[in-house]
Order: sequence, then structure tokens, then C-alpha cells
Amino acid sequence: MKNTAEYINKNIIIYEDKENIQNKTPLANAMIDYRNKNCTPFDVPGHKYGRGVGELVEFYGERTVSIDFNSMKSLDILSDPTSTIKEAEDLLAKAYHADNGYFVVNGTSSAVKAMIMSVCKPGDKIIIPRNAHKSSLSAMILSGAVPVYIQPEYDFEYGVFQGVEFEEVKRIIDKNKDAKAILIINPTYYGAVSDLKKIADYAHKYNIAVLVDEAHGAHFNFHDELPLSSMDAGADIAAVSTHKTGGSLTQSSVVISQGNIVNPKIIRKYLNLNGTTSSSYLLMASIDIARKNLALNGKKIFDSVLHLSRYGRDEINKIYGFKAFGTEIIGKPGVFNFDETKLVVNSCNLGITGFELSDILRDEYNIQVELGDSYNILAVVSLGDDFNSINILIEALKDISIKYRSSIKKVNHLKNIGELEVAMTPRDAFYGDTEKILFKDSIGRISGESIMAYPPGIPIVTPGEVITKEVIEYTHYLRENNALITDIEDKSLNTIKVIK
Ligand SMILES: Cc1ncc(COP(=O)(O)O)c(C=O)c1O
Repeated sequence: MKNTAEYINKNIIIYEDKENIQNKTPLANAMIDYRNKNCTPFDVPGHKYGRGVGELVEFYGERTVSIDFNSMKSLDILSDPTSTIKEAEDLLAKAYHADNGYFVVNGTSSAVKAMIMSVCKPGDKIIIPRNAHKSSLSAMILSGAVPVYIQPEYDFEYGVFQGVEFEEVKRIIDKNKDAKAILIINPTYYGAVSDLKKIADYAHKYNIAVLVDEAHGAHFNFHDELPLSSMDAGADIAAVSTHKTGGSLTQSSVVISQGNIVNPKIIRKYLNLNGTTSSSYLLMASIDIARKNLALNGKKIFDSVLHLSRYGRDEINKIYGFKAFGTEIIGKPGVFNFDETKLVVNSCNLGITGFELSDILRDEYNIQVELGDSYNILAVVSLGDDFNSINILIEALKDISIKYRSSIKKVNHLKNIGELEVAMTPRDAFYGDTEKILFKDSIGRISGESIMAYPPGIPIVTPGEVITKEVIEYTHYLRENNALITDIEDKSLNTIKVIK
């Protein structure tokens, strides 16, 4: 079988850009033109194209350091773009079917913060799934927005949180028609997609702004067998991790928006509030190039990626002890649609946890997966994959299946920790008067800090929520299983800060 690169190269690239504008990379081109002028730099960065730090040149290569610029008029300035960056952002907007596009160089976390702050002021309600990423929590702390949580659907078969059901969202909107915003995750880390269009239509009846965390859906817009993208579903703003599945460099991200519920200038204001004044042109150019690639070749690329992930899923499902879910989960609670490029492999039947499987893959097979949790691993299949990489994963899983099947132990199926009572807003609790007490004695107390497992970076408990026995048990369970526990100050998990 051909690998993806061959598959793409041997086929004539489909040119989908009827206006013939998406083949431009205005910012990347301007950077090369500027470098070719051989300007004598008396601005920062102080390494001056690598001349001051030889090891930097050795490490990154001459070309990279020679285009590591800081904000300058000649190349346009991200905080108030008027020329090359503006042109590149307009192309981005067009490629994503949006009215406005914004480059972000501080990761999607800062995109999510700016998106929420553009709509929510202190005291404003935001309807938000409880399995939202920690950046949404940060946004609520910064903005003073008050969360009205939607409980995502828990899939007991695979032990993952899926999306949200329209009926549940409707029930919550009906009780909170004064909410300023609703945030939907499109898709979840595990690929589940909620009925965004129906949710957006309903929210708009009450003038509620529809915000989308599209961190894991940067590719949706470019293939019709992928779930509906935020803009096509009628959302107002989306934060999109071009660096995750779009092909740009790590930390580069974008915000896109449409319509008139949110003023585009306000979005820029909050991006600037959260952003740096020294935006990396290396990161911005990577968005320019990734956007061009997606816009021109997306259909072809994701034909291949879907082909690969379907092949991988089918082969993995033939291996004893593993189950990789696919489109058959569509229709389960919280799964309106599914992103097939997310290859989630459940290892319960083999008697090993996802944590263990991800460690075995890394330590014994030199394979790094996106995450391991209690029951699953997540392998992201992207535009960088080919049959060779998929086959490496399949062969490793075959080997693991043989090695571990005789030592079958039962994977402890923990219940989901359930709904937590929100006793204070995240902001009030974050800034509240706290005391340190023993974690084991904290049941019934209001948490003054977050506990997080990374990845996926979804809070186990947030500031303002009431700690339960299940929170304590679950946190210890994650720690014992080698999960990276973050955010809580006392990493030994002996003590926790609670509200006095
Ligand atoms: C759903 C979701 N939103 C936002 C983010 C933040 O993205 P970034 O790491 O680019 O800041 C992540 C990161 O994993 C995520 O999973």
C-alpha cells in the first residue's frame, strides 16, 4: 500500500480555490522579502539573526534564525494589523468560512480566554460543559463569568465523557435565558461532536452568543466526511488549534468569528489583553502556510487521513483485547457525530489501563500517543501520518496483546465522579480567603484551587466547587496510575487549599 505522502503526491492536487487567492502566503512571503533586504538590525531579538549565539544557529538552522523577527511595521503588527498580517488573516477567515480571522501565538488557551472575555463581563452567565478545558476555567476566573454547567454524557462502555445532548442544553437555556454565552466543544478530545447547529439555532433565539472550543477540529472545514465546522454550524466565535490538526507550529492558533453578535474589534481587544507584544513571526508564518495547505489540498489530504484512520481502526479491532470505537457510537448519548481521525483504543479487555498502555507503547515500542486515561489511549491520526506509522502502531498493539493476554487482571471500572456542587464562582473562590487542610479531610469543603490531570487538562475539581469523596478517590487513583496531576499546589496530595 502507498503511504500518505505518496498517495498525495501521485494524485493531482485538487485545486479548490476558485478565486485563486488561497495559494498566497502574504506573511511568509513578506518575511522572506524582508530577510533578503539584509537590513542591519538594531532592534530585538538580540541574537540578530543568530549572529550572537552560534549554538542557536547550529540548533535551529540558519534559515530559521534569520527570520526570527519581532513586531515591526514593515511586516505588520499583530496587535493592530493593517497590511501583511491583515491580508493573511483575511485569507484565514475565507478558508474557514468566517467573516474575521485572528492569528494567535499564545496557544489556544489564550484564544479561548479572549473568546470568552469578548462576551462575558463579571457576573454574566456562561453555559458550559463541565468537561471543558482548563483554559475555559481560566477565562471564567479572569472575566468573572458565572458558569452554568452542562453535564456531558458519560459513556460507561468506554469510560469517556462524550458531548452534550441538545435536550439537556435546551433545558438549561430555558432556565437561563439571560445567559450571555454558551460554549460547545467541537469535538471533544475523544472525537465526539454535539449537535452544534441545533444548539446554535436555539441559543440565538435568546441572543446568546455561541462560542466553540474547536481546539481539536482545525481540520473539520476541509472535508465533507468530517463533522460540521463551527462556522458552518452557525457559531459566532471559535478558538481553533491550527497547531493540533491543522499543520502549523506548536502554540500557533487562531480565532475566527462571524455575524454581528460580537464586534470584531472587541475580539482583537481581548486577544491583545491576553497576548504578547512580541508575537513570533515564525509561529504566524506557520499559520499562513498551514492555511494555504488546508485550503488548497485539504480534501485530498483528509481523504488519505480518513482512509488511514479507518484502516487503523479496522486492523486494531481484529486484535484480541483492544476495541477502537468508530462511527457506530453515533447516536449514543452525547454523540451526534464523530471525528474518525481520533483513534481511541480501549484496552480494558486486555486487563491493562490506558495509562499502562501508553507507558508500554512509549517505553517498549518508542510510540508516543496523545493521551492515556483509565481505560483508553488516544492516537491522533493527522496529515503527518502514513501507512508506515499506522502499521507501527498496529504491530505494537498485536505484540502487546500477545504479551499481556495471559496476565489478565481486571481493570477497575471507576464510576464517573458525578456532578459537583458549585458553591462559589471560580473567580470568587480563586481570589477567596483560603486555608490549607488535609486533602483526606476536605469532603464537603469548597475548593480554593483546581486539580487537573494532564492531558486532557479537564479539571477534576475547580475553585468554588464542593469537594466530594469521589474527587479525593479519583485524584489518588489517577496519581497511582502515573497520571500527571497539575494545578494543585501540594503535589504530594496531602493538603488542599479550601475556602475559609
Ligand atoms: C479542548 C481544548 N481546548 C483548548 C486547549 C488549549 O490549547 P493550547 O494547548 O494550544 O493552549 C486544549 C489543549 O489541549 C484542549 O484540549
